[in-house]
Amino acid sequence: MRKKIVAGNWKMNTTVPEGVELAKAVVAKSNEVPADVKLVIATPFTHLYPVAEVVKGTVVSLSAENCADHEKGAYTGEVAANMLASVGCEYTILGHSERRQYYTETDAKLVEKTKLALANGLKVILCVGENLEEREAGKHFDVCESQIKNVLYNFTAEDMKNIVVAYEPVWAIGTGKTATADQAEEIHAFIRKVIADKFGAQVAEDTTILYGGSCKPSNAKELFAQKDIDGGLIGGAALKAEDFIAIAQSY
Ligand code: 13P
Repeated sequence: MRKKIVAGNWKMNTTVPEGVELAKAVVAKSNEVPADVKLVIATPFTHLYPVAEVVKGTVVSLSAENCADHEKGAYTGEVAANMLASVGCEYTILGHSERRQYYTETDAKLVEKTKLALANGLKVILCVGENLEEREAGKHFDVCESQIKNVLYNFTAEDMKNIVVAYEPVWAIGTGKTATADQAEEIHAFIRKVIADKFGAQVAEDTTILYGGSCKPSNAKELFAQKDIDGGLIGGAALKAEDFIAIAQSY
């Protein structure tokens, strides 16, 4: 049975004290969420150490938002996967569209990052998704397929146990314009098929596929009711503990 996950991606928001307060508020409300829904919070690098102290021993897991594509050494400003593991991260997000768009994150780099994350015991939340132009040109299936193939086809069925996919249509991120439940389900089912083509039906069945893009308490229920949507990767609404928890309660 695949895991249900609601993950908050804080992006570049909150100071460290604000982030610690937000994490405490999420932990305080975590008992209001069904026990089979895993809560994850992804914070900026600066917040990981103090937030790890807050979530330690609770049901909330910690994630980074990115990691380096090299193991260690002269890469000023980068943070390595083993550093993330050493502060208590269980996950890292990789390939978020904002990183692909603004920081030249290529699929080739994502293969390296995923390898290093897995080798250091981290689980990976790999983001895929088309932009508006690609959606309007009817290329959304092709874009997601190639992003999945270029990265995940370099891994094994065993590795897939530690990989979560997040479908985030770029046109829905931070725009208030959510994909309809049907639009999201159609792509999620397709992504599951692309995974099945390489790894077999059972691995595909067991892979958690999250939806991200203007997911909020008012639309989460309909999205999460879809057969192939196994939770959400939440941006803006994850910055308020009540909203984040309300989304997780939508199950
Ligand atoms: P929003 O929920 O703010 O649209 O962001 C989604 C996202 O990018 C999560 O990674």
